[in-house]
Amino acid sequence: MKLWEGRFTQPSAKSADVFNQSLSFDRKLYWHDIFASIAHVKMLNETHILPAADADKICDTLQAILADIESGALLIEGAEDIHTFIEQELVMRIGVMGKRMHTARSRNDQVATDFRLYVKDSISGICGLLHDLIETLLRLANKHVGNILPGYTHLQRAQPVSLAQYLNAYSEMFLRDLERFIDCYKRTDVMPLGSCALAGTDFPIDRTITAKLLHFSMISQNSLDAVSDRDFVAEYIFCCSTVMAHLSRFCEDIILYSSGEFGFIEISDTYSTGSSIMPQKKNPDIPELIRGKTGRVYGSLTGILTVIKGIPTAYNKDLQEDKEALFNAEDTVKSCLSIFNELLQNITFNTRRMRNAAAGGFSTATDIADYLVQKGMAFRDAHAVTGQIVRYCIENNQTLERLDLSTYRRFCELFDGEILQCVRVDHSVEARKAIGGSSRSAVRENIRSITKRLNKLCKA
Ligand code: ARG
Repeated sequence: MKLWEGRFTQPSAKSADVFNQSLSFDRKLYWHDIFASIAHVKMLNETHILPAADADKICDTLQAILADIESGALLIEGAEDIHTFIEQELVMRIGVMGKRMHTARSRNDQVATDFRLYVKDSISGICGLLHDLIETLLRLANKHVGNILPGYTHLQRAQPVSLAQYLNAYSEMFLRDLERFIDCYKRTDVMPLGSCALAGTDFPIDRTITAKLLHFSMISQNSLDAVSDRDFVAEYIFCCSTVMAHLSRFCEDIILYSSGEFGFIEISDTYSTGSSIMPQKKNPDIPELIRGKTGRVYGSLTGILTVIKGIPTAYNKDLQEDKEALFNAEDTVKSCLSIFNELLQNITFNTRRMRNAAAGGFSTATDIADYLVQKGMAFRDAHAVTGQIVRYCIENNQTLERLDLSTYRRFCELFDGEILQCVRVDHSVEARKAIGGSSRSAVRENIRSITKRLNKLCKA
């Protein structure tokens, strides 16, 4: 069955049907389509557009269709799209009465409604996964407040930092992602149903009834806009993209840190892969795949933005392209978030090796300069003196922690015994006490703050 054959004299070409169809992917919307149709029919009855007997029969049959789809008794096939499929099945079961369902509605407002319902549910799912990942990070951070690793800039050792502070950095990123999704939800939570094809309807419908039944907080206020607004799709995929960016960066660290050269972490065998030719190898395929899959999510974002940009006002078939872009981004981000959470729980942190690496690379040089500033020297001069000390260490194969006081004093008389403490990595990390810093108290405060914001976001 086609919903639009009336004015045609020739049947459509098979190839055109295949090209035009969306059932192969929009079948995912079957639950939301039925949910929305039931609400629509109930509204038609309450507004006396449809008699109760018809409305009840249609709703009962829609429920039966849903049950049959879910049990596998009814296969979704043989229609142009999911909306046509459900309607076709309804008409097959109850005849002409089923055709009344589509009164005061078009597939244009129907598909936009179904898709928004779907995206709202999907956002809730992703928020749950982000929440779980942040909980894992917080658990790990609590365990590693006192452990130290080198902090890098330009991938050169810069200053020692706390391992918990490092983990918290990713919690902050994922917390922003969570917030972004919650914000996207607000703009998705607008009901287009009732806009019909593009101009609204001349039936005396009551859109507040359907909005309530479908749990939409808002109702679209312009039918022309509502049928073709896919901003929520672009926004959703952008939210997925930032999650992927953050996962990808984290994975990049994990790949580097698990290499023999760094040796900071070890991914458990259960989440690693081997090489078919080099027997000694243990490869980080999972984080590499997550890093790689980021590309397809960005691809979906570029895709939807490009689709949106070209269409004239109101619905055009280009918009059917919104679904695969979103489904693909959704599947990717969900699978990446959940496998990454598992991976993270199966990583061993080589804390001794991290700490030793933090002590190398003159990573407490800034502490020496700051020390001299506290003794009254201008920072620029202190920077120069410290630079000379570092050069001396390089030339004499020394470290800042091993130099004795008399050597320090050769460079500047302002040095006293405290400097020997000051250049130790623990001291350096502990000295950064201001909000956001590396000291234990600052890191614990960061953990508390993340926990608080997480709980607040997840209550909303
Ligand atoms: N399958 C279509 C889509 O996904 C449904 C809307 C069809 N509307 C139309 N005027 N052809 O966008």
